[in-house]
Amino acid sequence: MPDYSEKVMDHFTKPRNIGEVEDPSGVGEVGNPVCGDMMKFTIKVKDDRIEDVKYLTFGCGAAIAVSSMVSEMAKGKTLDEAMKITNKQVAEELGGLPGNKMHCSNLGADALHKAIENYREQEQVSAG
Ligand code: FES
Repeated sequence: MPDYSEKVMDHFTKPRNIGEVEDPSGVGEVGNPVCGDMMKFTIKVKDDRIEDVKYLTFGCGAAIAVSSMVSEMAKGKTLDEAMKITNKQVAEELGGLPGNKMHCSNLGADALHKAIENYREQEQVSAG
């Protein structure tokens, strides 16, 4: 077992917000070329805020902990605030990740940002 922080273990063993939101406002999917793992975020947006966020992660323990942490960090934030969440911040919030697992944190914020971009694209289409 690599050297995981307590917070990583906590989010890995008790992941928060797992699943898919119903009738999502935006969907973001990313794959990790290093290991082939996948992460899918769905968000529900209301008044420019992330009202609900869920994810499905097909990946290692660190990736699961990362997605759980991202979902907690993003919930209730405005879209602009959520766009500013970085993969580095996520890893920091988790109390760090072992060096060989840093790549796992790269999926988290990327998938969230993709879901926000997906939402914004749809808004443009329906507004335009
Ligand atoms: Fe694939 Fe961690 S080993 S995301």
